[in-house]
Amino acid sequence: MVIAFTGTHTYYPHPMDPKRVYIETYGCQMNVADTELILGHLADHGYERTAGPETADVILLNTCAIREHAEERVLSRLAAIAHHKARRPGVKLGLTGCMVQHLRDRLLARAPYLDLLAGPDAYRHLPELLARDSTDPLVDLRLDRSETYADMTPARDGGVRAWVTAMRGCDRFCTFCVVPYVRGRERSVSGPTLIEQVRTLAASGYREVVYLGQTVNAYHDGHWSFADLLRRTAAIEGILRVRFTSPHPAEMTDDLIDAMATTPKVSPYLHLPVQSGSDRVLQLMSRDYDRASYLALVHRLRTAVPDIALSTDVIVGFPTEEESDFTETLALVNEVGFDHAFMFKYSRREGTKAYARGDTVAEAEKTDRLQRLITLQEGLAAARNRALIGREVEVLIEGPARRTTGWLVGKTPHFKSTVLPNIAPVGSLATVRIADSTAHTLIGAGAAPAEQHVNHS
Ligand code: SAH
Ligand code: SF4
Ligand code: F3S
Repeated sequence: MVIAFTGTHTYYPHPMDPKRVYIETYGCQMNVADTELILGHLADHGYERTAGPETADVILLNTCAIREHAEERVLSRLAAIAHHKARRPGVKLGLTGCMVQHLRDRLLARAPYLDLLAGPDAYRHLPELLARDSTDPLVDLRLDRSETYADMTPARDGGVRAWVTAMRGCDRFCTFCVVPYVRGRERSVSGPTLIEQVRTLAASGYREVVYLGQTVNAYHDGHWSFADLLRRTAAIEGILRVRFTSPHPAEMTDDLIDAMATTPKVSPYLHLPVQSGSDRVLQLMSRDYDRASYLALVHRLRTAVPDIALSTDVIVGFPTEEESDFTETLALVNEVGFDHAFMFKYSRREGTKAYARGDTVAEAEKTDRLQRLITLQEGLAAARNRALIGREVEVLIEGPARRTTGWLVGKTPHFKSTVLPNIAPVGSLATVRIADSTAHTLIGAGAAPAEQHVNHS
């Protein structure tokens, strides 16, 4: 095989070389899982993964449409990456994912040099699209309500944790959200197929499985509920922990809570997006719960799983949100005491029901509310972590710590990142006493870290 380099970075493939693909991922964990799926599928069709755009024959950006900022990032990256195509005309440049489905042909007006647009249900056709000799851009935006890619094997990065897509799409149509439009209708992978996938993962060394879906607890394959799936997954030998994200609060059945409470391998951790603490705003968002029922759910969860860790998503500045609505959000966040939160400024998305309501909260006001919320949440998270100092926790070791040479990093069952001395191999469980903490990390007891982590923010 010949790989010729001229200058420092230009790659000219030999005609007999396998095609090389480079892919960058934007957006949520489901998109990360889709990238693994795309890479696995392309590998089955003779493509090799390459580490950078300069050595690629095919460059893909797997995009997100959730907020305007996500789309802007892709557009500026695209402009920066386009020169690879100009310098090596054989290179194909394509976009996949949610932003493609959202902006459709308008993307071609912005970036006429694109060779390919493939929406989230079109990945099966990628090898065929890439093989076509066309000077016009190829566009595949069909949404397919039965496509689950259940027969395709993702090319995973290795490690301890495997992300497994259990269901795709969303039927809930929250008024701010593009996901139902860009990912299409809800559909679940069959339970036995998932169990088989997880058995294979366990046999190849994965120790934790995280089931993914935009409303993952709406999972139903016609026979098994999500609770059934969790119980059966936990029974697989070699799997030490089972998690899932994101459940919808309105779909948290008693059976699912019972499965969490009675299946030790199911992590005592739940990401439960609340979005707002104001009933008026929750109703405008079509979230299908109110403040009282969300708090009642938190109570049910804490009764069944007493030390459960909770995280959430919050949007500030939804159209018509007043200071009084926002104060209710602050009060709810304070009352629940989340371990972690993802907090966002509202971003008006074309095609959604809330689009017609405009964008009534001024940018400066959104920024101010977000900052106040972050300040509150950071304090709460730091306090919750501080309460663990002196306690022993069980850590599933993931690998070397990034900032402290010789130390390891892993997660507790409550999904808290923990750094600890090198006391056990990667992939095993180690018990460590917590000596210190920050808002985002626990620090295990042991020899003094080479670098200081301690920061009581
Ligand atoms: N399916 C999950 C959330 C998926 S999107 C759920 O229903 O909980 C992840 C998060 O992005 C959402 O929870 C929401 O907080 C945020 N988000 C979605 N659309 C948004 C928008 N238009 N502006 C700002 N944040 C948004
Ligand atoms: Fe979007 Fe709502 Fe569906 Fe979550 S449940 S993906 S926020 S529409
Ligand atoms: Fe973004 Fe699509 Fe995920 S819009 S958040 S990548 S489902």
